Amino acid sequence: MNAPSTGNLQEEFLTLHEIVEAARRNLAPGPWGYLVGGAETETTVRRNRQALDSLAFRPRILRDVRHVDPSGSFLGRKTRLPVLLAPIGGLESIVAEGAAAAARASGEFGVPQMLSSVCKPGLEGTAAAADNLRVFQLYVRGDDAWVDDYVQRAIDHGYLAFCLTVDVAMYSRRERDLASRYVKPWRATATDAGRVFQAGLSWQQVERYKRKFPKFPLIIKGIATAEDAELAVEHGVEVVYVSNHGGRQLDHGLGSAAVMPEVVARVGTRAEVWVDGGFMRGTDIVKAIALGAKTVGLGRFTGFGLGAAGSAGLVRALEILEEEVRTCLGLLGVASLAELTPHHVTAAPPVTEPHVFSALPLLGRS
Ligand SMILES: Cc1cc2nc3c(=O)[nH]c(=O)nc-3n(C[C@H](O)[C@H](O)[C@H](O)COP(=O)(O)O)c2cc1C
Repeated sequence: MNAPSTGNLQEEFLTLHEIVEAARRNLAPGPWGYLVGGAETETTVRRNRQALDSLAFRPRILRDVRHVDPSGSFLGRKTRLPVLLAPIGGLESIVAEGAAAAARASGEFGVPQMLSSVCKPGLEGTAAAADNLRVFQLYVRGDDAWVDDYVQRAIDHGYLAFCLTVDVAMYSRRERDLASRYVKPWRATATDAGRVFQAGLSWQQVERYKRKFPKFPLIIKGIATAEDAELAVEHGVEVVYVSNHGGRQLDHGLGSAAVMPEVVARVGTRAEVWVDGGFMRGTDIVKAIALGAKTVGLGRFTGFGLGAAGSAGLVRALEILEEEVRTCLGLLGVASLAELTPHHVTAAPPVTEPHVFSALPLLGRS
């Protein structure tokens, strides 16, 4: 891990691809492969981009866009953009301070952070690092009492909601990591007994959570069908988070943007729908909101910003993203996110072959 840049980042980074290039320069091959890679053939990774690249805009003209407001709302609080720093386990292999660096960028820029339970400096340490909007994501590695202890600590430390990631019944085969013999810090210490808890997770535990913590909102992350969205809503879940884990778990899944219409149609106004998977550019964020997402998770994007120059690098990446969202909204004839509708997008053939960096054409492929 090289020292992050201390220069003037506004001048150093004018585009997102420059940030990604800097992250690649700074990171050793093992952590880099861990950050960008996916499961097996990486078809789901590519489909995330394919689904986004298969949507074109239908702009409206001659509308007053002198004041464009790209702000979003997150569990009832205003945010500077409708995005969430998605949970990343082992962030400490990307940036020395781990999730504390993400927390600081979250607070400074004004977007929420979801902390992964397998990330240093942990629930308490990350909460102490910044005054930010934060939610907590748990990988279940223990019994009910073990889970309840996490929920209570999250409540006590100012987290706004609790998240169960449900697309990890099995740990996938990440071939970049296997080929490079890279073992991330938290996997090195995980026990087989611990892994069994997530494989045994079912709607019963969701029911139990809602009975025990009815007032602490629950997010289910990793929903990929209308059927499971329906079950989540029936169980009283507040947020249906459409995700395929950035193509890092089940290979040969659909791209998240392609899943959105069926989930949004089924959920209606009964819960919020969030989404992640391949979102890298301002246009991607606008497409998600037009499809009905309330919040868009940024996974690799967060890692790239932090890898480029720590929390300042992530703030700079978010500034560029904000500029892109603002430009896109203005050119669509839309002054705020609330004006976006599904009529602002339409199906169109992608013009690039989708891959993990196809949103950044000035960057080489790898
Ligand atoms: C390096 C890395 C580690 C991740 N760790 C977690 C995790 O601990 N918990 C979780 O729910 N999702 C995890 N994810 C998935 C992200 O939260 C998010 O769903 C995914 O990255 C979104 O796709 P994107 O990277 O294309 O934006 C991880 C993703 C990456 C890239």
